[in-house]
Amino acid sequence: MKILAIESSCDETAAAVVEDGTTVLSSIIHSQIAEHKQFGGVVPEIASRRHCENILDVVKRALAEGDCSLEKIDAIAVTYAPGLIGALLVGVNFAKGLSLASGLPLIPVHHIAGHIAANYIAHPTLEPPYLCLVASGGHSHIVEVLSYTKFKVIGRTRDDAAGECFDKVARVLGFPYPGGMHIDNASKIGYNLSYNLPSPKVTGSEFDFSFSGLKTAVINIVHNSEQKGIEIDKNGLAASFQKTVCDILVSKTISAANMLGYSKIALAGGVSANSGLRQAMEDACKSENKELYIPPVSLCGDNAAMIGCQGYYDFLAGKSATSDLNAIATLSLENM
Ligand code: KG4
Ligand code: ZN
Repeated sequence: MKILAIESSCDETAAAVVEDGTTVLSSIIHSQIAEHKQFGGVVPEIASRRHCENILDVVKRALAEGDCSLEKIDAIAVTYAPGLIGALLVGVNFAKGLSLASGLPLIPVHHIAGHIAANYIAHPTLEPPYLCLVASGGHSHIVEVLSYTKFKVIGRTRDDAAGECFDKVARVLGFPYPGGMHIDNASKIGYNLSYNLPSPKVTGSEFDFSFSGLKTAVINIVHNSEQKGIEIDKNGLAASFQKTVCDILVSKTISAANMLGYSKIALAGGVSANSGLRQAMEDACKSENKELYIPPVSLCGDNAAMIGCQGYYDFLAGKSATSDLNAIATLSLENM
């Protein structure tokens, strides 16, 4: 079964052709980062306008590179939630128009489920149930993946998402947007115990995260140093910050896996590209005797191949939409 998948939830216009869930025939990503960079973050209206301008070309390229005409496609999958509403609407309406004109079934896909599904492309032997740490620009979740289409979120951030925290800390350290990758690179040079940073405590749910206190601690160090005319060790601070975030993400995921009896752990989302997180999770899984699944860096960030993969499993589970499909800015993975 060949699925044409479309993703436009944030600042990447993406389309892909995916066969039987895991064979990626083409994956085209048009990134808007260069334009948003000058504003220090994604400007929602600009994102929507660029999706409008680029979506037709991106879809045409995905079909051409997948050596497919629309006649060879069996269904259209599209990200409908969560994300920037204006951005999502472009992909959703494009997919609805294409579905109406072609008669092909339309499959609405949850963006976070898509990030998790990137693991099936990279590791076709991976099967639910397993535990997944999802860390992206907008979400930090510990998720019980009960089946390909059923999820239970057992931990979430109370404030900033991990990626958001990386980006804000990067900004105060003078790195361009999106800063996660720059913190990652600086961490390879800096000493990760240069600064003593707090690991914020969260009361109530033991698997919830809180990153805003850590972010504020880094901002305070930078501002205090500026006021006193002391030069900060930028690489050391980046490395200390990254280590603190990774320690929190890894320790909560491992203790959740132990408590709930999961032997398989997966990573998903843009932050799972982080080399420190990948290494720390690998080390922890080795010592705790867990199997670890991580997507290649190319599938960690936003792409449409992961939407085609999840769309396949959603379709097999009987999920499809009609022409009244709408985009939803905030929607729990449990209610997709
Ligand atoms: O999943 P994603 O592409 O978009 C969302 O759905 O949010 O995640 C983007 C986030 C950004 O915050 C970006 O800084 C972060 O992923 N990111 C990284 C790395 N590469 C991307 N964070 C840390 N280290 C990286 N190497
Ligand atoms: Zn994403």
